[in-house]
Amino acid sequence: MSKHVAASRITAPQIRSRKGGDKIVCLTAYTAPVAALLDPHTDLLLVGDSLGMVIHGLPSTVGVTLDMMILHGQAVMRGSSRALVVVDLPFGTYEADPATAYRSAVRVMQETGCQAVKIEACAGAAEIIAFLVGRGIPVIGHVGLRPQAANVDGGFKAKGRTDTERQAVLAEARAADQAGAFAIVIEGVAASLADEITNAVGAPTIGIGASPRCDGQILVTDDMLGLFDWTPKFVRRYGDMRALIAEAAAAYAADVRNGRFPAQAELYAFKPPAS
Ligand code: KIV
Repeated sequence: MSKHVAASRITAPQIRSRKGGDKIVCLTAYTAPVAALLDPHTDLLLVGDSLGMVIHGLPSTVGVTLDMMILHGQAVMRGSSRALVVVDLPFGTYEADPATAYRSAVRVMQETGCQAVKIEACAGAAEIIAFLVGRGIPVIGHVGLRPQAANVDGGFKAKGRTDTERQAVLAEARAADQAGAFAIVIEGVAASLADEITNAVGAPTIGIGASPRCDGQILVTDDMLGLFDWTPKFVRRYGDMRALIAEAAAAYAADVRNGRFPAQAELYAFKPPAS
């Protein structure tokens, strides 16, 4: 049996059944070694299209392609064995119509072995979710701040400050729920709106900049590890990887420059073959 087969992984229905129960622990992952470190501690690993900014230095997620998602999805699947792995469908690969979304999702699932995809709310999102779910593809919806819509919104703007906006985000979440999404990510909204959504939908909600009362939480792993000097207000840093990497690089550079690296113990000493 291939390691890809999800025999011992947490499943989408298991995540769906956690509504109102034990909190669902989610993080993003983009590489095999980091996925391996996160896997024992998480229920769900998201190969988020945030990888465009976090890994590839793009200004937004708009430049992320399906090929990039597949490459990182394969790495995360290789590195993990327990968590449910979900891969984001990137900008331009699902919004046009359900058939386009289906082709993209099938490619992602077949080429990575992941168990589900995530799509951001957009015109026709409910139709797309229902089409995918009806054809064997578990889907997570994503409402509130939608990074792929940054060009329409004029940046990464928190949502739900006005009544109209609150109603719109609530409607997106209800639509994703009724269409069969097995979970809903709520990003960058007022806590009271996240609570209203959590109470209104049957699917578990996964908050990011939302509310502690969501059914689960997600953070961009590199943010919570402290790899960036600026992070959004909702990020809590659980490490200071920037300082660790800078210190390690400086110590290595000093050792190389002073001839202290490599040392005798780090050298190969080949013995001549016995004659
Ligand atoms: O792309 C991503 O990392 C995400 C999370 C922030 C939810 O969508």
